[in-house]
Parts: sequence; structure tokens; C-alpha cells
Amino acid sequence: MARTGCAHAERQHSMTQTVTVSGIAELVEEATRIRQTGEIPFVEFLNRHTLEVSPPSCAPNTPEYRSFWEDTHFSILGETYEAKRHENFDFDLAQMIECPYPYITKEPAIIAQQVRDWANVLEAIDLPRGSRILEMGAGWGNTSLLLAQSGFDISVLDINPLYLDLITERCRRLGLKIDTIEGEFLDIARLDQHYDAVLFYESFHHSLEHGELLHSVKTRLNEGGRVYFAGEPIIENAPYAWGLNPSGEALFQMHTHGWMELIFDRRYFEALLDSIGFALHWKHFAQGTQVAVASL
Ligand SMILES: C[S@@+](CC[C@H](N)C(=O)[O-])C[C@H]1O[C@@H](n2cnc3c(N)ncnc32)[C@H](O)[C@@H]1O
Repeated sequence: MARTGCAHAERQHSMTQTVTVSGIAELVEEATRIRQTGEIPFVEFLNRHTLEVSPPSCAPNTPEYRSFWEDTHFSILGETYEAKRHENFDFDLAQMIECPYPYITKEPAIIAQQVRDWANVLEAIDLPRGSRILEMGAGWGNTSLLLAQSGFDISVLDINPLYLDLITERCRRLGLKIDTIEGEFLDIARLDQHYDAVLFYESFHHSLEHGELLHSVKTRLNEGGRVYFAGEPIIENAPYAWGLNPSGEALFQMHTHGWMELIFDRRYFEALLDSIGFALHWKHFAQGTQVAVASL
């Protein structure tokens, strides 16, 4: 999440314990035990841990740099990452329709944080009613449903067909229409449509090919189009330009599900968008939350 101020980051750092790749299995085992006592202590325990790792000194846009992170992910997961396979999270569709995430956690703090983040996205989207927006990696569809109910013309793209079924059924119950597209992020390049905006909400950080992805996103935008990034780990003074998210929570997800969990240094992210032709500004909200708005 992009809500780490410097002082907060330093405080967090002083309380964290480092873990090596070989110690992750043990960390996950202990976290799983703690999870039985609740979601909050589980997350708090994980986030007291951070991965000790140093990427090579080569430029962050080189194949060598990227290979380092693929190899590190392999060491954490024990197999080669494939988006189609490892991002395809299985869940009980019928149960999720009745009670989608985050409500399923029954944790008011988690639900409140999510609701605040969706509201921030809605407020950040300074586009006229009816604007055409594509959400990339829409998951449970929470943000897209809110935007559709608020008068935007919404499409969603996700690699997981189960999520698309969930969104279709949630829309049906609310009398909403959202176009669903099954595909990998980079499939955006093959779409016929153009959009006024593309939204990444807690999804951009799953993209190893994020530079290529942003180039493709640009080709699908109308003139003056925007890209919104919310709930993404784009932080000041990240330990490296980009790479695997060293937080305990991210390590848990990579080890358990195989998800790709990345983190971006803010200056790297800003320079990347600038090099592709986007002007970037940040919208600031309560509790240090930010939404990055990239405009053509
Ligand atoms: C944390 S969820 C996003 C939550 C969602 N935006 C919301 O508002 O509820 C991440 C989503 O990204 C999707 N995803 C991950 N990697 C992907 C990829 N390579 N291509 C397309 N979708 C991907 C996952 O299937 C998942 O739905």
C-alpha cells in the first residue's frame, strides 16, 4: 500500500526482524498458527518481519536485474512463477457471492480500511459521468461495483475466471452492467476498445513486466486518458528500485499461493511513467493513503 510516510517507515523498520529466504517456511508456519487467533494478530506478526535481500547493482530495466527477482521468487515458492497458474486463486464462489472479501474477514479494521481505499479511488477519479474505465485485476470487483454504481462505464480484466463469475453475479443482483474480460495484464494490448482511464487497485504490483505493461496501457487510452494506481506499494526510500516486496505479509502470499508481490521505489516509478509520456501527480487522503494519477 502506498501509505508509508518516512517517519512511519523508520519506526516500522526499527521494530522489524530480518528473515532470509531459507527462513520463510518457518515464518509462514508460525504465522499460520497465529492466524487461528485472528486476522489482525496474523498480519501484525508477519509485518514485524522483512526479507534480507540485495539485488545486483545493474540497471533495474535490464534482463539480469529481472532474472534476479525471478530466481528469488523461485527460491521462495520452489517452482517457476507462471501468472496463469499462480495468480489463479481458488475460492468458494457461492460463499463469496453471499459474503465477498473484505466482509468475509468479519474484522471491522480491515473492512474499514478497504472501504476508505475504495472511497479514495472514487474521489480521485476526476472524470465526467459515463467515462469509460477499465479496472485491471478487479478481483472481487469491489472498486468496480462502486464505480459502476456511481455512473461510470466499467470494464474489468482479470486472469482468474472465477473472479469474473463473481463480478457478473454481484452485478446481476444489483442490476448493474460491467463488461468482463478474461486475460493476462499484457492482453490489454489486444483489446479493440479505448478507455478514458485504466485503474490498478492492489493489482499493478503483481506485474513483473510492469514497464511493458505501462506502454501497452498507453496504447488503449483515449487522448488525455489517465491511469490510477491505488493501494499499490509504491513507497519513498524503498530498499531497491523495484523487486519482491520484503514485508512478511508479501512473503506469506508468495510462499503460500505463489503470487507475484512487488514493491516500487517512488522515484523509480515516477521516472518510469515520465519516460513513457505520463505526467504524474499524487492525491493525498487521510491516514497517509495516496492515489497516483498518471495523465497523458
Ligand atoms: C488483490 S486483487 C485486486 C482487488 C481488486 N482490485 C478489488 O478492488 O477488489 C489482485 C487481482 O489481480 C489479478 N491478477 C494478478 N495477476 C494478474 C495478471 N498477471 N493478469 C491479470 N490479472 C492478474 C488477480 O487475479 C486478482 O484479482
